[in-house]
Amino acid sequence: MNVDVTAKNQADWYQDAVFYELYIRAYRDSNGDGNGDFRGAIKKLDHIQSLGVNCIWVMPMYPSPLKDDGYDVADYLGIHPDYGTLADFKAFLDAAHARGLKVVTDMVMNHTSDQHPWFQAARQDKHSPYRDYYVWSDTGSEYADARIIFLDTEPSNWTYDEVAGQYFWHRFYSCQPDLNYDNPQVHEEMFNALRFWLDMGIDGFRIDAIPYLYEREGTNCENLPETHQFLAKMRRMVDEEYPGTLLIAEANQWPHDLLPYFGTEEEPEFQVCFHFPIMPRLYQAVKAGDKTPIVDILNDTPEKPAGTQWMTFLRNHDELTLEMVTPEVRQWMWEQYAPEPRMRLNLGIRRRLAALLDHDKQKWFLLHALFLSLPGTPIIYYGDEIGMGDNIWLPDRHGCRTPMQWNNNLNAGFSSYENTYQPVLAEYPQVNVAAQEDEPDSYLNLTRFLIRARQGQAALRRGEMAWVETGDTAVLAYRRFIHDEGVLCLFNLSSQPQRFALHHERRDLLSPEARLSGTIELKPFAAHWLVLA
Ligand code: NOJ
Repeated sequence: MNVDVTAKNQADWYQDAVFYELYIRAYRDSNGDGNGDFRGAIKKLDHIQSLGVNCIWVMPMYPSPLKDDGYDVADYLGIHPDYGTLADFKAFLDAAHARGLKVVTDMVMNHTSDQHPWFQAARQDKHSPYRDYYVWSDTGSEYADARIIFLDTEPSNWTYDEVAGQYFWHRFYSCQPDLNYDNPQVHEEMFNALRFWLDMGIDGFRIDAIPYLYEREGTNCENLPETHQFLAKMRRMVDEEYPGTLLIAEANQWPHDLLPYFGTEEEPEFQVCFHFPIMPRLYQAVKAGDKTPIVDILNDTPEKPAGTQWMTFLRNHDELTLEMVTPEVRQWMWEQYAPEPRMRLNLGIRRRLAALLDHDKQKWFLLHALFLSLPGTPIIYYGDEIGMGDNIWLPDRHGCRTPMQWNNNLNAGFSSYENTYQPVLAEYPQVNVAAQEDEPDSYLNLTRFLIRARQGQAALRRGEMAWVETGDTAVLAYRRFIHDEGVLCLFNLSSQPQRFALHHERRDLLSPEARLSGTIELKPFAAHWLVLA
């Protein structure tokens, strides 16, 4: 029985979906100012649709000084002028919907930009109603147990503001003051922002940095009960006023701390949570030729409530975070994947997927076949579908956010203006969408092939998972199954050939011509999805 993925209006459509992360600034510049914009992105919806994905996650598109690429919001109810107008956004949304693509946007709730009028009013007047929108201190000594997240740049979570004459609290850059969720007015402001975009017709939100909404002395100020109470309240509002809205939690946490973000049956919070800890372990396993990290983390992942879903990813717009591994593994991952100091950032690695894999297509295919067959809703980061590289000489995470490479014309077909917001990668004459269109084994066509193969199998989208014993740490195998359908996912994580015994002849979804039987040889870094009758 194949579940129809075209049934896009079913309430839990996200269970069947593949997502695509879109950085609007990087995608296509329609007006020649060097920045991508919504009018440009509309022209590229055909490309997104051609991948077979179902939903686009739009990174922050709000007015912002762009000190943190839009995660520093200066107005929750607008569009950054570089990206277009509200009408352009609406046109993009309608064009996506017309193609059957859903759209979720980023909502940055934990903090604003210091340029937000609320913060400007707050710092200038102690008696302004906006003062209490933020978290202040006379000493900057409170909440000393909260870790610093951007540790390469921020010496403290408190910064003294001369105008205010007090310290303000911030979990990220000091240009991103945290909002004060002890103030119910802040809840209302955020709810109004949600309503504004939902009224426009978006399908949901990826909510940024949710573990940090509240602060309490004597705690690490993460995952506090008050935060969960607020999130449940938010979900109640959304369910009452905009039923069917998808809420995705960005919480970089261990599985047992992630689970509460799904909430309970009576008090639901998010339908979908990013599964952060699985991601680095996929790279670790492929480098070490050992499945143990993948098996261990999935065995440590608690059962989630019915109807909820994990979101899985290989890369995104941030550094490849190593927060959710041990210090020893982190050191090993840095040595293996980030030998140059410039490749490291905070507790992670600022490199693109294909570059991390030394542009080895076999490994790229293996990692995709792996992550597209694990339980969870997969998300692909723009550019990874063509194996785009990176530029480690750009600051912060910009080296993984360079302009999309469409063709070998000026600026890779991204913009007609010489001074693009970041330089186009020098590789673009070789690595671009147009060059890969007609090449059957290009990254682009392999991405399309893998997504389609997944979409065709209800077992891969919604099925249960069970490990299959292989007697070999380099060979990872699991069954995904639903009703009478099943797929045996089989991977050789090592650079050496391995063997695996099949009891019946099987069709391989990843090389449709092939029927495999008996003891088969698994080539180095091979991936198979074998149909179980
Ligand atoms: C998580 C986002 O993914 C990251 O890009 C941003 O810098 C921080 N949250 C702060 O908003």
